[in-house]
Amino acid sequence: MIRLEGITKSFGSLQVLRGIDLEIKKGEVVSIVGPSGAGKTTLLQIMGTLDMPDSGSVTIDGTLVNCLKEKELSAFRNKHIGFVFQFHQLLPEFTALENVMIPAFIAGMGQQEARAAAAEILDFMGLAERASHKPNELSGGEKQRVAVARALINHPAVVLADEPSGSLDTHNKEELHQLFFDLRNRLGQTFVIVTHDEGLAQITDRTIHLKDGEVCKE
Ligand SMILES: Nc1ncnc2c1ncn2[C@@H]1O[C@H](COP(=O)(O)OP(=O)(O)OP(=O)(O)O)[C@@H](O)[C@H]1O
Ligand SMILES: [Mg+2]
Repeated sequence: MIRLEGITKSFGSLQVLRGIDLEIKKGEVVSIVGPSGAGKTTLLQIMGTLDMPDSGSVTIDGTLVNCLKEKELSAFRNKHIGFVFQFHQLLPEFTALENVMIPAFIAGMGQQEARAAAAEILDFMGLAERASHKPNELSGGEKQRVAVARALINHPAVVLADEPSGSLDTHNKEELHQLFFDLRNRLGQTFVIVTHDEGLAQITDRTIHLKDGEVCKE
């Protein structure tokens, strides 16, 4: 479902990734851990086609993304990859429901259909009551769950999350982690999660340890 082969990446004279090979299967919840500066975000961005490797290939759902042009790439990303960041990055002037609808609009879905799909996902996450609120009227945990809903609306092959619970307190953190597993169990959703949270890393199906630009053990 996702295959990375021989990924290398340097920034100037700093070689961050030194030949990464890995495969993620459908329905897996995989964590990526490693010290600060190990290249976790860089790897996730390459996996998510937001950045290009210097060499190596990225295949997602059977598509070799290296060959796609800029326009094809953004359409591919919109349809096949969901992102969740440490800070929700919701648009402040839109409600929770509208924020979740946006990627569906971009993918060409009609207004009514997008509204219904967004409402269904928010409902699934126990956020139906909060749908008409703007981000500044939501708690930190709620904002992150809305961000997860937005990542899911186009039924992506994979959700890539970079320290999604990094800004949450213990209770909201655990609730968000539980949500990932619920989504996997109920929808077969695949997740790749960069985290510093050992508790989360321990409960994922597999942990990829990055060190000195290489995968050191699984
Ligand atoms: N655009 C860039 N230009 C130059 N250097 C960069 C760039 N992006 C990342 N780096 C450097 O590459 C290295 C890896 O960065 P990366 O963000 O992938 O680390 P990380 O493992 O995600 O760390 P953290 O746990 O602190 O988030 C770091 O030394 C960083 O300073
Ligand atoms: Mg990082």
